[in-house]
Amino acid sequence: MHFTRKVTKDLTWVGADDRRLACFEGVYGVPNGVSYNSYLLQDEKTVLFDTVDKAVYQTFFENVKYALDGRKLDYLVIHHMEPDHAYTIEALLTRYPDVMIICNSKIQTMLGQFFDMDLTGRVQIVKEGDSFSSGKHSFTFVMAPMVHWPEVMMTYDVTDKLLFTADAFGTFGALNGRLFADEGDFFGEELDEARRYYTNIVGKYGPQVQAVLKKAAKLELNTVCPLHGPVWREHFGDFLEKYLLWSSYTPEEKSVCLAYASVYGHTENAANILAGRLVERGVRVRMFDTSVTPASYIVSDAFRCSHLVLASTTYNAGIFVTMENLIHDLVNHNLCNRKIALIENGSWAATSGKLMREALSGLKGTEFINDTISLKSALKENQLEALDALADAIAADIKNS
Ligand code: FEO
Repeated sequence: MHFTRKVTKDLTWVGADDRRLACFEGVYGVPNGVSYNSYLLQDEKTVLFDTVDKAVYQTFFENVKYALDGRKLDYLVIHHMEPDHAYTIEALLTRYPDVMIICNSKIQTMLGQFFDMDLTGRVQIVKEGDSFSSGKHSFTFVMAPMVHWPEVMMTYDVTDKLLFTADAFGTFGALNGRLFADEGDFFGEELDEARRYYTNIVGKYGPQVQAVLKKAAKLELNTVCPLHGPVWREHFGDFLEKYLLWSSYTPEEKSVCLAYASVYGHTENAANILAGRLVERGVRVRMFDTSVTPASYIVSDAFRCSHLVLASTTYNAGIFVTMENLIHDLVNHNLCNRKIALIENGSWAATSGKLMREALSGLKGTEFINDTISLKSALKENQLEALDALADAIAADIKNS
């Protein structure tokens, strides 16, 4: 049975939730599920904006059929070729043989890469600023390369002042019957998952996101329709502010993200004591055990906080594997402009501090606070002074910055 929601008088959400997916893109856990959004416009011509992942194709086709209400499908606008949105295109074209695809030339190339279909005469190529009319509604196209793949584009419905934003402004989490962000407590309950989605999926491409945000700033917006998560019709400016911070690698708050890798608890012990010293100095701290919390959550928190403390034991003459994975992700997601302090441990030849410093020093705007604190097996009484000094330095930096 279909389940659809009206976005506007003419536009219907025809997407679906997936709550059985273990890992989005095979790597990011989604305990609250994820939505794949697709939208159908009823005008003089009918227009579908994107399709969905294969996991929800059955619901999707029921929804499209219901929303078409007996009409044929005239156009499919493709904004992004990642298969979580594009997998179902071939099946859609089989079911609706008269549909004309509207996309850019990079998307056309990827259609040929992903599918063996003869699309001769079925593709209308658009470029930046091109326009299109479906009758009452007219559209312009905005290219958005690397948000999150090179072919990505957005479509602006000039008539309804509505922007289809592809992956941008998406959120992890199923919709659960809701469609609009203002139908729930987005900033109270979902912001963390929106940040985790942005930082892990698009975080590497901050400058490209900034370029698109500049273009979007020129548009009057009543409604914003992303490919994941809720649609925005109220308080979008508050969400946009977060995007401006995340994409410019500006911390949301002056606080510490403290992550540690500890095999037998001695490195954890030092991390706990430092956390206590920081809190006593009025500093807010969130702690993560890298062997317990998946890296995507810690990366997200590192984007939120101004300061990072990373503490790792030495393992196989290197950084402990879960910390090494976290640092790999921080570097690959291009986390810039952070103040970082390091603690290493090693019972005979500690190397993790030097290796962590080398890996992180390539990130633009990184500043290290104090020398690496080096533990030999367990923290000793005479090293408390170094932890106090580090807590003093971080607290002073937070107060003065
Ligand atoms: Fe939701 Fe980049 O695909």
